[in-house]
Amino acid sequence: MTERFAGTDQDIEAAARLLAAGELVAFGTETVYGLGADATNAKAVAAIFAAKGRPHFNPLICHYASAEAAFADVAANDAARKLAEIFWPGPLTLVLPRRATCEVALLAGAGLETLAVRVPAHPQAAKLLGALGRPVAAPSANRSGQISPTTAAHVLAGLRGRIAAVLDSGPCRVGVESTVLDLSTGTPFLLRPGGVALEALEAAIGPVRFGMPVDKTVDRHAKLRSPGMLVSHYAPALPVRVRADEVAADEALLAFGPPLPGARLVFQLSESGDLAEAAARLFEGLHWLDAQAPALGLRRIAAMAVPETGLGLAINDRLGRAAAPRE
Ligand code: TXA
Ligand code: MG
Repeated sequence: MTERFAGTDQDIEAAARLLAAGELVAFGTETVYGLGADATNAKAVAAIFAAKGRPHFNPLICHYASAEAAFADVAANDAARKLAEIFWPGPLTLVLPRRATCEVALLAGAGLETLAVRVPAHPQAAKLLGALGRPVAAPSANRSGQISPTTAAHVLAGLRGRIAAVLDSGPCRVGVESTVLDLSTGTPFLLRPGGVALEALEAAIGPVRFGMPVDKTVDRHAKLRSPGMLVSHYAPALPVRVRADEVAADEALLAFGPPLPGARLVFQLSESGDLAEAAARLFEGLHWLDAQAPALGLRRIAAMAVPETGLGLAINDRLGRAAAPRE
């Protein structure tokens, strides 16, 4: 079920065709193997979370063939350009504001206004990205809670039968994930130590702080979170009510399956009750309802019940956080 490709140019072309068709392909990078999907295809990105068995929608790193391609999707500043010059291609991920023209699916960035981008150094990864001509969203290619894979055999041990193919690119040279640096505010923040040393970053751009920049926190109830959660996620401006079985006069509806009667504004997650489709549309829907509801005088989002199976767990996790009491 899961094809194992060697690294010939034909193999890379075949892997790129699978990605273009919305399939999942694991591929080697210099850090760890990534579980890749076409980042502009929300359903393909949703399939990543399903394959990994992730209970949450974490924001994923988008991989690009060049700094130029990456900076077409996010707005680079001087520090970003300098670091790209020195460390790309390589094990450094930069978090920067999404451009309005960025076509990466909102689900890939967990609905955030920022996007994590990187240009991997592994020659086969570079060829694959070049052949596809689109960004590839890729977390590490392991099941949720397991360790990151550094060989194709590791990938197959965890994901055989759950993904279309693995491109065997040999053992990973670095073996730990990329360093994640947030440059989306005036102050650089180290979000995850990794393949590029902190000292090397500081030699290039000066002091780097640890943790999350608070002023970029979109989430309005971040304080309620477990401290282990490094990254804030998008929460809608409007309050959310979950497991709604009726719609009040001042509510917009986030529907799953046949909509509840009486709603004046409806965003349909999945008419047919398909959880992967619903996951792919979730952040899109919250953004859209936030934007449309005020003009109609609607003040809350009523979300219909979503089953607690498969991607429903992650959908309900996000909706539950959005619905949690706010200060
Ligand atoms: O080495 C790597 O980076 C590997 C290979 C495959 O490239 N990829 C990887 O991806 O480790 P992932 O999705 O497992 O890690 C993403 C990291 C997480 O720590 C996540 O919280 C952070 O990047 N991240 C992604 N987008 C973010 C954003 N918009 N803001 C803040 N942090 C973000
Ligand atoms: Mg991982």
